[in-house]
Amino acid sequence: MFRIPEDSGLLCGSPAHAGVGLGEVANHMRCSNQSTKDVTEYNRQAWDEQVARGNRWTVPVSSADVESARHGKWQVVLTPQQPVPASWFPPMQAARVLGLASGGGQQAPLMAAAGATVTVLDNSPAQLEQDQRVARRDGLRIESVLGDMRDLSMFQDATFDLVFNPCSVSFVPDVLPVFEEVRRVLRPGGRLMCGFINPARFIFDEQELEQGRLAVRHRLPYHDATHLNADELEQLREQAEPLMFSHSLRDLIRGQIQAGLVLDDLYEDIAPDEALSEYLPVYFATLASKPN
Ligand SMILES: C[S@@+](CC[C@H](N)C(=O)[O-])C[C@H]1O[C@@H](n2cnc3c(N)ncnc32)[C@H](O)[C@@H]1O
Repeated sequence: MFRIPEDSGLLCGSPAHAGVGLGEVANHMRCSNQSTKDVTEYNRQAWDEQVARGNRWTVPVSSADVESARHGKWQVVLTPQQPVPASWFPPMQAARVLGLASGGGQQAPLMAAAGATVTVLDNSPAQLEQDQRVARRDGLRIESVLGDMRDLSMFQDATFDLVFNPCSVSFVPDVLPVFEEVRRVLRPGGRLMCGFINPARFIFDEQELEQGRLAVRHRLPYHDATHLNADELEQLREQAEPLMFSHSLRDLIRGQIQAGLVLDDLYEDIAPDEALSEYLPVYFATLASKPN
């Protein structure tokens, strides 16, 4: 899943973590609404650090992949392993695509090579730089925008034909503003593709899960900052793990409908290296469109 496996590399106390402490975030989560800014700041530092650590979701595609995409052969994921069906995509030649929280150089370069005009908005400068690195290497044009997926005010109404949002709304406390903003920036007939983590994933104790054991522990809705104890939060910080939030299926699915989108399709996916995937398709992806 998008939890970050323990790894060598930068640890707490590094300059990347000098800005916002997890203790502060946790206290704010418990005490005030001011927390969401802190979460965004904390997660920015965490994802920047994940790039330095070589986390799977920060490793760009190869030049060979880009070359294949130029010849019409490409696949991208919204979830750990199942490619997005080709039938979900509009014709990519000249399509205006927003990669929403999709920095890291995995999807934007392929869609750009396939002929789309691609903008990526991400909260992590280092993730955005991964796309730019590929663009320089392979002669692509990708526009990068640093920002929060809940605020797309830098884009005019009806700007995009496709918004592509790989598993990432679990890094923000509130998902409904994301769908509202996406509907606004989509042109009529435009499409939204999202990857999600099934909220059931969050009822289990994380450390037990990592050992392959399923121990039900948490009541939903789950937030790292309010459900973990001080030692566990410190461990998260040491591992530079971004803070995560479960969201209800109501918000993830009905939230899109409530925002004025029409749901067109859905598939489920697993991550074979995760114990829970033996029992449950932990991930799912939806295709929605903005009515004409
Ligand atoms: C699991 S990665 C997804 C990107 C990756 N290309 C993929 O294939 O899945 C999650 C991404 O969400 C971004 N992110 C987290 N919180 C965000 C926010 N509030 N606004 C925009 N992007 C955010 C992270 O910086 C990271 O690049």
